[in-house]
Amino acid sequence: MTSTSPHLVTRALRRLPIAAGPALLLLSACADERQDIFTPQGDSAEKINRLQVPVFGIAGLVGVLVLGGILVLMRQGSRRHNDAEIDPVQLEGNFKLEIGWTIAPAVLLAVVAVFTVATLLDLDDVDAAPPPELGEMEISVYGHQWWWSYEYEMNPSDTSPENTPEIVTANDLVIPAGVPIRLNIRSRDVIHSFWIPSLAGTRDAVPGRSHDLVIQADEPGVYDGQCKEFCGLSHANMKQRVVALSMPEFQTWLEQQQETQPLLEEGDVGYEGQQTFLAQCSTCHQINGLENADGEPIVVEGGAAVVSRYAPNLTHLMTRGVFAGALFDLWTTDEDGRPVVDRAQLEAWIRDPAAIKPMYDVVPEGELPRGMPDLGLSEDQIDQVIDYLLTLHPGATEGPPIQTAGAQD
Ligand code: CUA
Repeated sequence: MTSTSPHLVTRALRRLPIAAGPALLLLSACADERQDIFTPQGDSAEKINRLQVPVFGIAGLVGVLVLGGILVLMRQGSRRHNDAEIDPVQLEGNFKLEIGWTIAPAVLLAVVAVFTVATLLDLDDVDAAPPPELGEMEISVYGHQWWWSYEYEMNPSDTSPENTPEIVTANDLVIPAGVPIRLNIRSRDVIHSFWIPSLAGTRDAVPGRSHDLVIQADEPGVYDGQCKEFCGLSHANMKQRVVALSMPEFQTWLEQQQETQPLLEEGDVGYEGQQTFLAQCSTCHQINGLENADGEPIVVEGGAAVVSRYAPNLTHLMTRGVFAGALFDLWTTDEDGRPVVDRAQLEAWIRDPAAIKPMYDVVPEGELPRGMPDLGLSEDQIDQVIDYLLTLHPGATEGPPIQTAGAQD
């Protein structure tokens, strides 16, 4: 180290607060209340918080001590402080100190490890058998570039090929509040990581594997999340939400979601859009109940095929609160404060998806599309398709469908 280095370092340190100001501001902007690890709203998050608060406290204290020590030593070792023309005496090697600062961190880490392992075991030690009113219900969560789909199996013990998931939905994971729910986390392409910070820790979604994650939301509400493993171009735009409903509401939701969508007939509102949808969108997006011109269901039954070419299943889209990887709210409010579909946002999405969410424009030969392509629809067609999308809710059910947008606050 040359004799001028300490001055350079202290000068840099003096400027630190100037640089740290904006950085702190940026960090505080990230502190989304609904995505906050320090306000746990479920059992797992609670256990994790009980561990992380003391650990962060200890780590912070160690950080302050080490940085403080460095500053003191820098000052004591500097020429200016010693009013010297030449370098102060260079000290090296203090056996007791070196032994001390080797053993102290080791002891500290060992103590933290004990509590960490205990917490990990505690997190796994949850009886997450579904409550009796839900039978054997199993929920699988699939990561895709760049959105999440959720498949609800009501009879998972029936392994025959005809038994496909009763409900396939996307972006909004709907669960009952107040009970632990076991999720099978999986992926259909690359590694993702499912994370709802206020409810539970993260779990990687790895192709070819299924990882368990137990989540619980103590109260009904909406809990935001974010894919936590870098998974390509739009990783930062791969969001997800958990919508927790009261048990009776959840049971109604289950029933409503299992209804199929009626095929519209000429003259019905949305008919033209349905035809455009069948011709253009149904290659990737499925709607349970739709048939092609030959009267064949466009939903290909059986295993993974039920989600078609890995685009969200849009059955009952209007009961969801978000779209495009939970990046946009599906709903806004009119002048009277009533919820209305955010048509402008939906139009922008269909008009040029890659313009508002980065995606690969060109699909490599033999590969599945990554993100929604621009289908080059005319403005009239876009309008008609949206008119059609507006009809996608369970119609025959008594009372209004449960809109997860309604549970937003
Ligand atoms: Cu999916 Cu990051």
